[in-house]
Amino acid sequence: MRIVKSASLMQKIALEHIKNGDEIGLVPTMGALHDGHASLIARSEKNDDITIVSIFVNPTQFGPKEDYLKYPRTVKEDLEICKENHVDYVFMPSVNDMFPAEHKTFIEVKILQDILCGKFRQDHFRGVVTVVAKLFNISCADRSYFGMKDFQQLKIVERMVKDLNFKIKIIPCPIIREKSGLAISSRNSYLSAKEKKSSENISRILREASEDFKTKNLSFVKRSALNKLKKIPGSKIDYAEIVNFSDLSFADKNTEKAVFAVAIWIGKTRLIDNFVMLKQTQNI
Ligand code: PAJ
Repeated sequence: MRIVKSASLMQKIALEHIKNGDEIGLVPTMGALHDGHASLIARSEKNDDITIVSIFVNPTQFGPKEDYLKYPRTVKEDLEICKENHVDYVFMPSVNDMFPAEHKTFIEVKILQDILCGKFRQDHFRGVVTVVAKLFNISCADRSYFGMKDFQQLKIVERMVKDLNFKIKIIPCPIIREKSGLAISSRNSYLSAKEKKSSENISRILREASEDFKTKNLSFVKRSALNKLKKIPGSKIDYAEIVNFSDLSFADKNTEKAVFAVAIWIGKTRLIDNFVMLKQTQNI
């Protein structure tokens, strides 16, 4: 496993691999690696000749009042996880290399960037897609792996790839959860034991909603879930929305495949989670 800190060197190495006929997989991360990230790495290991994991806490996707400085940085442990998972290259650029003072270009994905999390985190997705596009170009990857945990991010990246004719293939990967159902996240480390217990209710409520969605009407599903979410001790809901799986537009009574997406504060920690929901298929 090789650690590469410069973007131009990373690109040079990637181009050499392409010349040799290797297929490259990229797993973009902000570090503080956990089993969710490891599942993405494992998918790349299976599909690609070369796996690059990027670790970069991207300042452009954090708002001025958000947790950029506090975001967990666990480089030593991250490198261990990468090694154990047979990663070929860990790309760890500096902020100055990725976003030097003269950097002027940002990508926007209209509408999709302004709903759900975008309503509460202004400029967040603009920072995400811009760094992701840079990472695609630097890594020259054939495939890149994204968790459904960040469902809106996945949809926005897919949209950008289509709209800007990137040739990379985006591979969506399922959410990895703890036994309790809590979606694994680097930010879970902010939670006290009591807050963690509260957080475990989120996935249970979403799972129950997905059961209801099979047979019950949309307003019932939403109302019932909202009532339960509001009762979680220490919670404050940013949003809880049922949207179409394909394009994140609001679901309606004809929606067959939806996503129940939530962002909820538990104390001072903002958690996101979602569940895919399908209508009951009729047995004929
Ligand atoms: P980060 O939060 O580190 O997540 C990196 C990738 O891991 C994302 O695709 C995310 O969806 C996935 N992931 C996180 N938790 C997961 C879980 N429990 N199960 C499955 N996948 C999970 O997302 C980012 O970083 C950044 O925005 C990034 C794309 C790297 C751009 O800076």
